[in-house]
Amino acid sequence: MTAKIYEPMSRRTLLGTAAATAGLATAASIVPFGVAIGAQAKVRIGILLPYSGTYAMLGNAITDGLKLRLAEAGGKLGGRDVEFVIVDSQMSVPKAPQNTQKLIAKEKVDFLVGPVHSGIAAAMAKIVGRAGNPIMIVPNAGSNAVTGPLCASNIFRTSFSNWQPAYPGGKVMADDGHKTAVTIAWKYGAGIQMMAAGKSSFEKAGGKVVKDIQVPFPSVEFQANLSEIAALKPDAVFAFFSGGGAVKFVKDYAAAGLKEKIPLYGPGFLTEGVSMAQGAAAEGIKTTLHYADNLDNAANKAFRAGYKKMYGKEANVFSVQGYDTGSLLLIAMDAVKGDSGAKKAMIAAMEKAKIASPRGDISFSAAHNVVQDIYLRKVVKGHQNLMGVVAKQLADPARGCRLA
Ligand code: BEZ
Repeated sequence: MTAKIYEPMSRRTLLGTAAATAGLATAASIVPFGVAIGAQAKVRIGILLPYSGTYAMLGNAITDGLKLRLAEAGGKLGGRDVEFVIVDSQMSVPKAPQNTQKLIAKEKVDFLVGPVHSGIAAAMAKIVGRAGNPIMIVPNAGSNAVTGPLCASNIFRTSFSNWQPAYPGGKVMADDGHKTAVTIAWKYGAGIQMMAAGKSSFEKAGGKVVKDIQVPFPSVEFQANLSEIAALKPDAVFAFFSGGGAVKFVKDYAAAGLKEKIPLYGPGFLTEGVSMAQGAAAEGIKTTLHYADNLDNAANKAFRAGYKKMYGKEANVFSVQGYDTGSLLLIAMDAVKGDSGAKKAMIAAMEKAKIASPRGDISFSAAHNVVQDIYLRKVVKGHQNLMGVVAKQLADPARGCRLA
């Protein structure tokens, strides 16, 4: 596997990625477009993920998970070598159309993998869905619209819709006996949609959300919001932050003296991949997500061991999503024996895919969104420990999708 990387990516990120791919071609090596090695050209995978800013950890974990899965399969897709063309999304929605066009029209990638951010996902889906080409796999961004009104035959999602992990979370809060809650999230698609989903199940179960607090993305200035929560005195708080912002929020929440008084809940992104950095502030926080560290299945055990061996660090849900994206690419390219032009046959194989993922068994809905179990987890000594299954094989409602 080789990679062409567009600036800007920090040297630190490049070194991290290169070290992470030890044993494979280094991530920093640039392979000119169109080079054919052996009988066939390499399969080109365009990657649009964040490698800088608050979501950098997510982008790196997804990339690492994807590379691990392909390395396990001998570094080939359908018998062909693989080349990555990597672009740092910088979490910029305005730059998303240009970045997407660059990968499609200039780089002529066979597949597009990305993004992390819901706003970028919607911008990409408008272009890729309309063009009908290439096949795009979303390895994180939860924008409900991507497998709703913007769904398309060439767009699949291996991660979640924003509704999926959040909806069961509101009921968990009500089942714990809480009657009132405040929601707090970054003000953009992911935050707005996750808070709406959690609120609807909380209120359906008899609770009342007394205030929805929206924080500009990606601000980490929470003091005024925390003072407001302290004054409102809800029974519980339901929150969405992720990556660097989640570290800061959970630490600030505890430092403000709120942790022991008003329990924090939310979709698992609040602590996922960052609970060690959050330290004592994260201990005991209950969240809902499609993964838990200690899921007792063979795929998870092998995946976590392989990830640790390759990268020297623990896996998280984002690396699982990258890993499963690799599995879906393998299914598509194996079905057509490496003929990446056979789009229809690849899509048919992807629609039928059943994957024994580290998160448990997954498949795909008519809208091409992943169908999966949602777990209740609790942070114990920095680990996301399984407490139970809160939704079995949950499919997104896919409102507005003409494929569904
Ligand atoms: C999103 O923008 O869709 C998103 C970002 C980080 C974690 C989860 C969702």
